[in-house]
Amino acid sequence: MQRTFAIIKPDAVAKGFTGQILAMIEGAGFKIVGMRKTRLSKAQAEGFYAVHKERPFFGGLVAFMTEGPVVVLALEKENAIADWRALMGATNPANAAEGTIRKKFAENVERNCVHGSDAPETAAVEIPFFFSAASLL
Ligand code: RTP
Ligand code: MG
Repeated sequence: MQRTFAIIKPDAVAKGFTGQILAMIEGAGFKIVGMRKTRLSKAQAEGFYAVHKERPFFGGLVAFMTEGPVVVLALEKENAIADWRALMGATNPANAAEGTIRKKFAENVERNCVHGSDAPETAAVEIPFFFSAASLL
């Protein structure tokens, strides 16, 4: 079994897509082991996306991720990291495959509905960023 970290981003929460996205997650065989609605502070968003701090889109990304509530999730499944990235679809929804969350719900390359850890080392940092080990059930 593998765990990954996911966020339902502010665009998707604001548009009322939370339930449909959770249904797709469970329908694809993921077990939700942690879930919380929260609003990221500027410092949290900057820390979470620190890997992108030199990128031109960093300021916009932080503004977007803090504009409203998000749902943070820890997901468990065999091959959870790759399978969640596959269910999310490509970063730019214009390139996302049919049946993916981003194809279905995302507006553009920035406002793209969901986040997912991109590697085991990333998941190992991102899950504890939001969840204590003991809170995961
Ligand atoms: P994420 O980290 O959120 O799961 O997304 P990702 O791996 O598919 O994409 P990544 O390259 O890590 O980019 C992180 C987030 O930054 C925003 N972005 N904006 N304006 C742009 O060109 C641009 N490029 C990326 C998106 O919200 C993207 O998910
Ligand atoms: Mg990424």
